[in-house]
Amino acid sequence: MEKISRTKIVDLLKRDDFGAKVNVKGWVRTRRGSKQVNFIALNDGSTINNVQIVVDLASFDEEMLKQITTGACLSVNGEMVESVGSGQKVEVQAREIEVLGICDNTYPLQKKGHSMEFLREIAHLRPRTNTFGAVFRIRHHMAIAIHKFFHERGFYYFHTPIITASDAEGAGQMFQVTTLDMRHLGRTEDGAVKYDDDFFGKQASLTVSGQLEGELAATALGAIYTFGPTFRAENSNTPRHLAEFWMIEPEVAFNDITDNMDLAEEFIKYCVQWALDNCADDVKFLNDMFDKGLVERLQGVLKDDFVRLSYTEGIKILESAVANGRKFEFPVYWGVDLASEHERYLVEEHFKRPVILTDYPKEIKAFYMKQNEDGKTVRAMDVLFPKIGEIIGGSEREADYEKLQSRIDELHIPMKDMWWYLDTRKFGTCPHSGFGLGFERLLLFVTGMANIRDVIPFPRTPRNAEF
Ligand code: 4AD
Ligand code: MG
Repeated sequence: MEKISRTKIVDLLKRDDFGAKVNVKGWVRTRRGSKQVNFIALNDGSTINNVQIVVDLASFDEEMLKQITTGACLSVNGEMVESVGSGQKVEVQAREIEVLGICDNTYPLQKKGHSMEFLREIAHLRPRTNTFGAVFRIRHHMAIAIHKFFHERGFYYFHTPIITASDAEGAGQMFQVTTLDMRHLGRTEDGAVKYDDDFFGKQASLTVSGQLEGELAATALGAIYTFGPTFRAENSNTPRHLAEFWMIEPEVAFNDITDNMDLAEEFIKYCVQWALDNCADDVKFLNDMFDKGLVERLQGVLKDDFVRLSYTEGIKILESAVANGRKFEFPVYWGVDLASEHERYLVEEHFKRPVILTDYPKEIKAFYMKQNEDGKTVRAMDVLFPKIGEIIGGSEREADYEKLQSRIDELHIPMKDMWWYLDTRKFGTCPHSGFGLGFERLLLFVTGMANIRDVIPFPRTPRNAEF
């Protein structure tokens, strides 16, 4: 075969130098046609769009043609021609075809319209579908948007550890990391596991958040963000929870809760705008395919200021909804940890735009949040989104050594794990704030997918760690 340098399909479809010799490589999506001429839809992952390859059967070897089945990988040399019927303005008239990889007839992606559940069982192949191609391209673009947003504003990307000995959220939902032999566990005199003998000489886990280390960095570099995998061993089988998910956590010295809300709102609008500007084809595909309201919803959050409201005000609204006959699965009262049905009521039905709830009861929030004067609430903020509920959780941090220490004591958090964190409050403490955005929750919003397992390549959930 003649050596012609490869053109990606995304670039080819923008060209108009008809007659040029080109090479394209990709996987067969469909093949149809008559006894004389066949049309192959080829996709190389560079775009949701396929290029149509026109094949005059008489000019090719019959055995080779038999190998061109759905899923096969081809290299095609040909001429770029103006298209009339393919839905694109460009197609390729094939001159030479090489089958780089035949596709066994057990290939499970034969027909269109597989269920999401079925595609999860073949997560190793689902990137070959239009839907997952679109989702994973968008995932890439959102990661770029996030780095760009913070970089442009002078934030430093700070790498926090994945293995940790502290429980940042204090919720105790951590996966242990150990090299101990589970069949022969050494015990101390009082019967506890002898972690002295373990790899790190103490009990270690996968992190639930990079925040605590992020705070160390913010009180030195001024403004940082983390962006990495985090792990939660909570047994939540919901469309919004993963055991392994990615989180973005900015932390900023001298920011109070209002600055923190401003940053969160600007950040998330930037990401949504980015998706509309840079992923238009993929977003439109998902809109037309699954969720006719997607584009409108994305544009919707850009339009208005987010509502800012205290938890206490939020509870009042929910209570009056209940009094007026609105039914919720879970009870509403001051002190309750809101369920996503409550959050979505506020966003979708009451205000009809995103809501930032602040000043939650201290009992339902983490130990590090700044305590309010009332002694009951903390300076927390959750950003609530349509279809999602909580997309961001954050707070102003408790900067006062004594207050933080007493909260740690109240909650019986072991001091031996926390001395380094408390040092920041001892050595030049300062007001500071930050938040965490769940990357997959953002992707749920931007792609309109209904289940969080469908916006991460290889989801980890209870009883599921295949691939
Ligand atoms: O509200 P969370 O637990 O907050 C923290 O971890 C703080 N340390 C953040 C900070 O202030 N730096 O989690 C933050 C976000 C949630 O709002 C949600 O979007 C996402 O992380 N999240 C999950 N996403 C998927 N699966 C799970 N199990 C998640 N748990 C939290
Ligand atoms: Mg939260």
